Amino acid sequence: TALLFLNGPNLNLLGTRQPEVYGHTTLADIETMCQDAARRRGVTLAFFQSNHEGALLDQIHAARGTYDGIILNAGAYTHTSVALMDAISSVAIPTIELHLSNVHAREAFRHQSYIARVAVGVICGFGAQGYVLALDAMLGHLERAG
Ligand code: DQA
Repeated sequence: TALLFLNGPNLNLLGTRQPEVYGHTTLADIETMCQDAARRRGVTLAFFQSNHEGALLDQIHAARGTYDGIILNAGAYTHTSVALMDAISSVAIPTIELHLSNVHAREAFRHQSYIARVAVGVICGFGAQGYVLALDAMLGHLERAG
């Protein structure tokens, strides 16, 4: 089993970016956590971040035939990007939408998600731990889906 973790805009700033909202853990720390968890579970994992919508689209397209599942924290593109939604539908790879913060407890514009419409499910509000929760949720989903 191979999983792709995709991180969108501004997530490269984790650790220093609004720590009261997103915590002090850096994206590199999160990747280490995920790699450790993946190793213990016997799965492989790739981790990618970009501030560019098109680069995220390219990664989703290239995932076809390589990755069994995608964990996507699309950052603000969650709330705006029909293109990311269409890419997920196009490649038909099971995708989990992920956010560090509880987007539903925040501004109304964060309640709208294009990704959720095509996602297996959504995990939000658990900070960095959400990445490992999403990993396990995806493995459970893939097992049930056979
Ligand atoms: C986020 C939530 C988004 O609304 C925001 O634009 C982000 C981060 C999160 O992980 O909590 O950039 O995806």
